[in-house]
Amino acid sequence: MPRKIILDCDPGHDDAIALLLAHGSPEIELLAVTTVVGNQTLDKVTRNALSVARIAGITGVPIAAGCPRPLVREVETAPEIHGESGIDGPVMPEPVQEVDPRHAVDLIIDTVMAHAPGEVTIVPTAGLTNIALAVRKEPRIAERVREVVLMGGGYHIGNRTAVAEFNIKIDPEAAHIVFNERWPLTMVGLDLTHQALATPEVVERIAAVGTRPAVFVTELLDFFGAMYLKEQGFAHPPVHDPCAVAYVIDPTVMTTRRAPLDVELTGALTTGMTVADFRAPAPDDCRTQVAVTLDHQRFWDLVVDALERIGDVPA
Ligand code: BDR
Ligand code: CA
Repeated sequence: MPRKIILDCDPGHDDAIALLLAHGSPEIELLAVTTVVGNQTLDKVTRNALSVARIAGITGVPIAAGCPRPLVREVETAPEIHGESGIDGPVMPEPVQEVDPRHAVDLIIDTVMAHAPGEVTIVPTAGLTNIALAVRKEPRIAERVREVVLMGGGYHIGNRTAVAEFNIKIDPEAAHIVFNERWPLTMVGLDLTHQALATPEVVERIAAVGTRPAVFVTELLDFFGAMYLKEQGFAHPPVHDPCAVAYVIDPTVMTTRRAPLDVELTGALTTGMTVADFRAPAPDDCRTQVAVTLDHQRFWDLVVDALERIGDVPA
């Protein structure tokens, strides 16, 4: 049985690849795509999600827009990595699909409540504003969701600040809510995603697929790679968001470690830091874990396999 997921995202170059991976993987059934302010404003990332759906040939999956700003803080976007459009680089086609009229928070709640307990996994690859509001509006989703597998945070490094990762830093109050809920939660943070490097060999493999969606991914990586080199000194870009999807497809593609997790809200230097408590074996009731090491080869095999399965999509 494929795993049913809701992808909550802010496309975003790596969100776009996460969407393609989810769509092309037979182990995943994409129930809904929801968007939230993050890499760019809500209108831009929502349009990007619709355009990526066209490129990927995704049809029949509702795409709904969510929160236009974080719970408490001002909007903070990432044009230095993703450009003014949120996906600078490739030419993005006009969307063909209409945005779903529901608010993303309602689509998340409706989707989870319409399925049996333990059936739906939420995969956030952006700030956690929509997910926090959804669980506050309908607390029963905390027991009904199978698990939350999110890209965000890190237990030994940040990227927005020395210790805070972007998705957590832009809405730490939302992250605090999500990390402290009763659902099982896997944090696929920078410790893991900085191993998901798009090396020249990886880009060659993707280019060799030769389809329009695969060419799109090479264009994404081209821009993303240049920005990561300029801004963060990476020789090859770390492709964060598909790692969370990969974990749902095949949890053995990475190792994990159980640990209590929390989010710093008041630190003078550490707001938005995700704090993992590794001092002792995790208590029996610990519901949270962090991703530790990635099988680089198998991770990229999953991405290439998904692109091969998607095949060519008419322009
Ligand atoms: C995360 O921040 C965003 O810019 C990326 O899309 C990813 O979700 C990495 O820190
Ligand atoms: Ca993202």
